[in-house]
Amino acid sequence: MFTDRVLSGMRPTGSLHLGHYHGVLKNWVEMQQEYECLFFVADWHALTTHYDTPQIIEQNVWDMVIDWLAAGIDPARATLFIQSRVPEHAELHVLLSMITPLGWLERVPTYKDQQEKLADKDLSTYGFLGYPLLQSADILIYRATQVPVGEDQVPHIEFTRNIARRFNHIYGREMGFEEKAESAVKKLGSKKSKLYHELRTRYQEHGDDEALQSAKALLEEQQSLNLGDRERLYGYLEGGGKMILSEPQAMLTHASKMHGLDGQKMSKSYNNTISLREDEASVSKKIRTMPTDPARIKRTDKGDPDKCPVWQLHRVYSNDDTRQWVQNGCRSAGIGCLDCKQPVINAVLAEQKPMRERAQLYLDDPALVRNIVSDGCEKARKLASETMSEVRDAMGLSYS
Ligand code: TRP
Ligand code: SF4
Repeated sequence: MFTDRVLSGMRPTGSLHLGHYHGVLKNWVEMQQEYECLFFVADWHALTTHYDTPQIIEQNVWDMVIDWLAAGIDPARATLFIQSRVPEHAELHVLLSMITPLGWLERVPTYKDQQEKLADKDLSTYGFLGYPLLQSADILIYRATQVPVGEDQVPHIEFTRNIARRFNHIYGREMGFEEKAESAVKKLGSKKSKLYHELRTRYQEHGDDEALQSAKALLEEQQSLNLGDRERLYGYLEGGGKMILSEPQAMLTHASKMHGLDGQKMSKSYNNTISLREDEASVSKKIRTMPTDPARIKRTDKGDPDKCPVWQLHRVYSNDDTRQWVQNGCRSAGIGCLDCKQPVINAVLAEQKPMRERAQLYLDDPALVRNIVSDGCEKARKLASETMSEVRDAMGLSYS
């Protein structure tokens, strides 16, 4: 019913590093070969946690788009845009808020987690509570079928699916819906069809909630129903109809958790990153001064790569031969740590070279980036308006 469309967003909260590249951006670059892709800068989402530092937003936005382009996102294949430049996201957010139970938002795990993690900020705001719903609007407005996200975001996609389902149940109407629903009922087999009808009548005519629950349980057991029929039968129970908004799937990025200079996960808050376009001298210096297995104090001390953050980088950057050389050389004290680090330095610099070159193009001519983003915003707005006119229709707001 809906063709594949990938959508993902990133908050512009600081410059991107190699962890973002290996965890997210490389995936985006691969996906743009296969799917229609929309990638956007979630600037409103950044404000939910950084509302007190608006001055950093703009520079971060342009830097981030340059990072994307540097990493190989191709504006001829993917649509790049900025959330706030497509104000329809906000309109859908407010419309969806009408049907969003407060408890659903309060129960999203990131709500309490982030409040605890960012305890120095006051996140008891309306905007922060609504974060997952804004994300739902981002996704549903493009009828995205796949959303590449990290594991922590999976509950937000699940939440989005529930919102879409609720919206469709309340507002969905489709031509010939009754007939289609009735023929879906028949597919249940005569015994179950009869039960379904009885339960539906009990719910619709007598408001019997238990009957509704039993009917839903009945549908849940039906493995063989296709998605369309399933949606219809759920909708038909409560009197609703078709899918106006489509339920997205989370696409788990098989993220290589990139380790940082100190062996912990690479993250700005640990101050252990190499940024995507860091200059060469700084990259070399950072790697040369990285800690190693603490047991190797002198060159003649034997070491254990498993206790060394440099080894984690070899796992990302080196081939089998080099890794073997590290294993043997480290355990026998045959190589020094600086010898060991050199192939990593070379590999990181080689990886970054084309990125630096691509970025230079955009740094030299900022209008290029502005134009790419303007085109992207325009395309995105067109797609968003199509969904919005159906949503407005369904909610009684078309005034034609
Ligand atoms: N919440 C996402 C994150 O923190 C960013 C985001 C906002 C997003 N809207 C989105 C991701 C829509 C995917 C789809 O990483
Ligand atoms: Fe780490 Fe390599 Fe030194 Fe071994 S030789 S401790 S793996 S840097």
